[in-house]
Amino acid sequence: MVVKKIAILFSGNGTNLQNLIEKLHNKVFDDTKIEVALTISNKKDVYGIKRSQKFGIEPIVIENKAFNSREEFDKELVGVIKKQNIDLVVLAGFMRILSSVFTQNVKAINIHPSLLPLFKGANAIEESFNSDEKFGGATVHYVSEELDGGEIIIQKSFEKTLDMNIDEFEKHIHKIEYDIFPKAVIAVLTK
Ligand code: GRF
Repeated sequence: MVVKKIAILFSGNGTNLQNLIEKLHNKVFDDTKIEVALTISNKKDVYGIKRSQKFGIEPIVIENKAFNSREEFDKELVGVIKKQNIDLVVLAGFMRILSSVFTQNVKAINIHPSLLPLFKGANAIEESFNSDEKFGGATVHYVSEELDGGEIIIQKSFEKTLDMNIDEFEKHIHKIEYDIFPKAVIAVLTK
């Protein structure tokens, strides 16, 4: 059996972080054991920290505001990640634009709450809800230098109905995220 270590990076509520830990941590898939070896938040006092602690995983907090540039922050992140021999970095609501210092040095995947390439960026849920598109959805993709532009690993859609309000729309998206994100991690680590 091989052991693959992942790091989960987050900035906020951490529901995807919790779902990933519940479904993957110390579980075996196709002779590959996945270990959540590291969790990192770029913000202190966010609820995701408590969620991680509940599973006995003490997050490392690296506040981006303590650094003078994007590159210096990314260098610190990469240093911490490399020290732990991480096989895959998983961005779960990590609200940072990453420089090439990060993207060229670690293998990472990200979850995005739209059917990419539609609605890149930070307002994807509102923009896709307000658009004329008949479907909403979520995408897991590799992280590249282009924001939300890396190769797509899995994406799943649902039909947007006229009676749906934005809260219901958002709930559908999160449900899809909790389904496809762990699957994408397993797919990447066992291929
Ligand atoms: C998710 O909708 C994800 O797609 C986006 O940020 C949100 C994170 O939510 N990138 P949570 O912190 O996992 O609850």
